[in-house]
Amino acid sequence: MSTQKELPSWLNDAIIYNIYPQSFNDTNSDGIGDLKGITEKLEYIQSLGANCIWINPVFKSPFLDAGYDVSDYYQIAERYGDLEDFKQLISEAKKRGIRVLLDLVAGHTSWDHPWFKESCKGDDNPYSDYYIWTDARIQKKRFVNGIGERDGGYMYNFYVHQPALNYGYYNIDENSPWQISMDDPRALKVHQELRNVISFWMDFGIDGFRVDMAMSIIKNDPECIGIKKFWSRLRSWFNTEYPDGVLLSEWGNPARAIDVGFHVDFMHQFGTLGWWNLFRDQVDPGQDLDVGFFSRSGEGCIEDFLSVFLEHHAKTKEKGYICIPSANHDTNRPSIHRSGRDLRVIQAFLLTAPGVPLIYYGDEIGMRFYKGLKNKEGAYYRSSSRTPMQWDSTVNAGFSTADKNELYLPIDPQNDRPTVDSQDTDEDSLLNLVRKLTKIRQETPALENNGDIIPVYAKNKKIPFVYLRKNNDDQYAMVVLNPSMNNETITIETDKIDGKTILSEGVTLLQEDGHKWEIGVKPQSFGIFE
Ligand code: NOJ
Ligand code: CA
Repeated sequence: MSTQKELPSWLNDAIIYNIYPQSFNDTNSDGIGDLKGITEKLEYIQSLGANCIWINPVFKSPFLDAGYDVSDYYQIAERYGDLEDFKQLISEAKKRGIRVLLDLVAGHTSWDHPWFKESCKGDDNPYSDYYIWTDARIQKKRFVNGIGERDGGYMYNFYVHQPALNYGYYNIDENSPWQISMDDPRALKVHQELRNVISFWMDFGIDGFRVDMAMSIIKNDPECIGIKKFWSRLRSWFNTEYPDGVLLSEWGNPARAIDVGFHVDFMHQFGTLGWWNLFRDQVDPGQDLDVGFFSRSGEGCIEDFLSVFLEHHAKTKEKGYICIPSANHDTNRPSIHRSGRDLRVIQAFLLTAPGVPLIYYGDEIGMRFYKGLKNKEGAYYRSSSRTPMQWDSTVNAGFSTADKNELYLPIDPQNDRPTVDSQDTDEDSLLNLVRKLTKIRQETPALENNGDIIPVYAKNKKIPFVYLRKNNDDQYAMVVLNPSMNNETITIETDKIDGKTILSEGVTLLQEDGHKWEIGVKPQSFGIFE
């Protein structure tokens, strides 16, 4: 396998499994998942072919935003266990070759954080400038007045209870003397606090972080010049201290995020919209949007996705990786408005695409997007993607033995809800397809993360979508996808394959003369060839 300069080589075959800890596995019957619960399921995670986990925030928090409101960066929230449990998790994960990533909520804390409480005080103290405060009551978007003894209001990042840490401004507005430069010693103190948090957990034994709202750090910086300065400084420090560690950004603009210093950036429902171009028919019917590529209608627009993806891929290759997640705790699940074979074609794409794949817990069995739930810990509609993992047919789907009413969120009530247990023994299940695909990915050099994708047949409102994958040693594989309900036969030309089938569900490949191939696709089919 080839490696890239300054990029840990393990990223080239990393497959991430993303765990929302509240909902994964509860071992002490309080209705909330915990660290011991994750440790207990490491073997299962390993059986998926995943070799890295990213756990959403597990730090002490009042949980007004599901833990994205940290009140102590150095403590595990009691409901998840303690540092000892986390140590155990890391050591058991290591034994199985699984790396561990935490979530770094860098831009803001909870309003319960002791730094913020100090910062609210009227008398000057070491924390007065840790947050962004105006110098008088000013009515301004994203500022909250009326809290604390200070003559001013504070800026928040997402919800009002998430005050923005003061990493400084890039452009300072001369009429706002309370803004400080990102190089002001007061801002540099906060920069140092972030490094302390990173060091603490890296030294504890983790392998890196997913960085929340990575673009929000430096204020008033529309061109991201200060933000670039901030993250590239941090990256060079990080490279020296932790050469094998990785930083994944929640940005949604890989060309920019990798340029500023991240190893990996996610494609999302926001930002460059690459992800949305695949999945956008997840929105409720009646909304005026073109359908995403994974549409049964055959009207999907793959060129819309590719135009974004190829541009970002070309700009980031050799410098970092793009991650196209199956979903996350903020998005819809791919199962929304879809079922059965749709999900097979989606997994066939996600697990053969270049970059670092990410499976959101439960997507490997096709867990439903459970609509109509109440707002839980600031989730609003996002609760629907955060319901408990469905392990088996015992009480509470094997997630917890707590009383049903004590569960973090209710279990999908439908009788035919998918479970790990029922799919484990079924050769044809989605779960076993995911396992097959990750194995193929790991055994097929052309599919390594640091490879190219070369469209062979890719037209809006036409099926199938055919692409070559190629690694840096010029090894090739070809993938054919038909998410639609239609049959089709097309002819393509390529001299990069011999026609050997690695895996096919409903795709036939016939060699015509020379390098011409006839491809026949059944409804909702896919194939991988060499
Ligand atoms: C992005 C996180 O993914 C989301 O869950 C959270 O609510 C916001 N950032 C605020 O931290
Ligand atoms: Ca628990």
